[in-house]
Amino acid sequence: MTATQNGSENDKVFIFDTTLRDGEQSPGASMTLEEKLQIAEILDEMGVDIIEAGFPIASNGDFEAVAEIAKNSKRSVIAGLARAIHADIDRCGEAVKHAQRGRIHTFVSTSPIHLKYQMNKSEEQVLDIITDTVARARNLIDDIEWSAMDATRTPIEYLCRAVEAAISAGATTINLPDTVGYATPDEYKQMFMDIRNRVPNADKAIFSVHCHDDLGLAVANSLAGVAGGARQIECTINGLGERAGNAALEEIVMAIRTRGDVLPYSCGVEPKFMTRASKLVAGASGFAVQYNKAIVGKNAFAHESGIHQDGMLKNAETYEIMRPEDVGVRATSLIMGKHSGRHAFKDKLKELGYELGDNALQEAFRRFKDLADRKKHVYDEDIEALVEDEISIASDQTRVIALTVIAGTGGPQKAILTMDVGGQHITKEANGDGPVDATFNAIKSIVPHDAKLSLYQVHAVTEGTDAQAEVSVRLEAGGRISTGKGADTDTLVASARAYVSALNKLNLRQQSSNPGALQAV
Ligand code: KIV
Ligand code: ZN
Repeated sequence: MTATQNGSENDKVFIFDTTLRDGEQSPGASMTLEEKLQIAEILDEMGVDIIEAGFPIASNGDFEAVAEIAKNSKRSVIAGLARAIHADIDRCGEAVKHAQRGRIHTFVSTSPIHLKYQMNKSEEQVLDIITDTVARARNLIDDIEWSAMDATRTPIEYLCRAVEAAISAGATTINLPDTVGYATPDEYKQMFMDIRNRVPNADKAIFSVHCHDDLGLAVANSLAGVAGGARQIECTINGLGERAGNAALEEIVMAIRTRGDVLPYSCGVEPKFMTRASKLVAGASGFAVQYNKAIVGKNAFAHESGIHQDGMLKNAETYEIMRPEDVGVRATSLIMGKHSGRHAFKDKLKELGYELGDNALQEAFRRFKDLADRKKHVYDEDIEALVEDEISIASDQTRVIALTVIAGTGGPQKAILTMDVGGQHITKEANGDGPVDATFNAIKSIVPHDAKLSLYQVHAVTEGTDAQAEVSVRLEAGGRISTGKGADTDTLVASARAYVSALNKLNLRQQSSNPGALQAV
């Protein structure tokens, strides 16, 4: 990949997506291999230049995800993260070597506070580490990114020396992150201008921004860094990421596209994939998108007040600076009813971007018919929720078969649940403090486990009291976190499915002493 800092490609900005690495680092956002592959596929298809697929040394699962994504990538460069440690760099090189174009992204802290409290190293020692580790990475692969962690709190003189050392050792991209989300746009822009002016070999590398949103400035800072000469933006779908998150990819891309008059840059991302990517990431991570989130929020293109609606009817540009269809929002369409056939259903799935195998299609169709019987209007969103649910169930070894709940003021609330556990149908009943608690207790009595419930969230997929409920459940056990989703017009059935899906994802192992009991590994 080539782009000059000052040459004719000056306005091309590379988009580096780190949803699968920095995004997944948010507590509770861990994703399965299958989910990561789906997300990487859409990122590749939408034209993301570089996908940071994970942190290969972190676990075998992370290594496998990076290696699999590398094997499947078509256009994007696949990057893996590595600390400034030989073992990390070697493991990362192993994982990305399968890609048509792979990258090792290695980082070390440079700020005084990190050097003193985290690393207990002197500035000179860190310079030696940079030279040694970047050179090691460069011996494995030609595309090397080096990051100065906490760059925005690093004195400029030392940052210049560190950047020069990294480029001399072979780094081709230099990332200067605002790790703690502390910078303001003017400061961040100035830092890039200073570095590019003062580092003698600065013209040999592409500079990159990486901003966290602790003060809500991540997107503004990223664009300011580009104004200062950076030509790579690190960002995530939905702004997922550590603490308050990273700069949101969809906001960056649409700012560049919409305000070309003052942001004279181009990027290769096709925005029409963004809504789908956003839903995919929200589903996999369990981090719902806030309604008023720019670009991909449910209300981003909704016009409620009379005066706005009046303007919109006369000319959409009165209140809309972007067209919803440009970012992949389809007009909510009423789809087939209960008389629609399998063929029409299959066509609809295709239009929504799903291709299911025969068995999954049959089951999804059965559930669609069932839904059309119970729900007055079936919308695209209903079909999407149903199919996502079906895709997740397809890989589950443990499933909900039937649920009856006795609720109301009389108490105690009781759930009678039948589950398929490894091919065996087991029915149990349990009481609880409310119907959801009773349902989850019934699951626990069929599949004993010590996982702790850390999130329970319900959303209506569409309007109306007959809407499907989409439930997210997050469980924690043995240091692992997993999120499951379930959808149904019955909130309790959706809750049971979401809980069981999260349980399946925790990678539970059957204990030989008790066939019903599962233990987190
Ligand atoms: O925020 C940060 O500094 C990072 C680095 C690892 C690039 O995520
Ligand atoms: Zn980060």
